[in-house]
Amino acid sequence: MPVKIIEVGPERLVDYASVPIKVEVKTILQVELVDGGLGGMVLHQVPVEKPCVKDYDSYGETPTDWLKLFDVSNWGFFLAMDGEKPAGAAAVAFDTNGVFMLEARRDLAVLWDICAHPAYRGVGIPLFRYAIEWSRRHTCRQMKVETQNVNVPACSFYLRMGCQLAEIHRFRYASVPPVAHEVMLNWYYTL
Ligand SMILES: CC(C)(COP(=O)(O)OP(=O)(O)OC[C@H]1O[C@@H](n2cnc3c(N)ncnc32)[C@H](O)[C@@H]1OP(=O)(O)O)[C@@H](O)C(=O)NCCC(=O)NCCS
Repeated sequence: MPVKIIEVGPERLVDYASVPIKVEVKTILQVELVDGGLGGMVLHQVPVEKPCVKDYDSYGETPTDWLKLFDVSNWGFFLAMDGEKPAGAAAVAFDTNGVFMLEARRDLAVLWDICAHPAYRGVGIPLFRYAIEWSRRHTCRQMKVETQNVNVPACSFYLRMGCQLAEIHRFRYASVPPVAHEVMLNWYYTL
């Protein structure tokens, strides 16, 4: 598939937003505490009772909202283009006030978003690699990415790309009713 990855400015976030970010939830990674947690946590992949589609666009902000919420001067926006059609997209941020995922570090990049159009599975890998190179060029030493235990395909993808799971936060979304039961999983890639 002849897609080309390009870096675009914020004015192309409307094109970016045309790539849907939906996940089919057939299994989840269930957390087992060993010895109340003293022995660590184990993730078991188990089928869900009722498979469903999680539509990330319906929960948080849309790509065009990022401009209202953050100063995006230290953000990179990438599109995977099939001719004139966006087949995938990714965004990376570093050194940005108000992005708590950055942990007040200046050497950490966050893969804020990545999505491949369902008709273009396979563009995730070049997008991820582009994000890595961009982060390296901006002198970051690690790239962090957040996902949830209900997004097993994304977890498999990050693992395959060479990320390591660093944090399992069982109650991170407790105040957000539709996703309160989900577990936050934070992955890190060493640049
Ligand atoms: C995550 C995502 C960007 C990956 O992009 P992609 O183009 O589908 O990924 P690829 O097809 O290049 O897959 C690369 C590897 O990731 C893993 N992977 C991807 N999708 C997978 C799935 N459904 N189940 C298991 N592993 C999967 C595999 O290891 C795969 O390698 P393989 O094909 O050799 O087995 C894409 O699936 C997507 O857009 N998902 C919906 C949005 C989303 O969840 N974004 C992340 C939010 S945290």
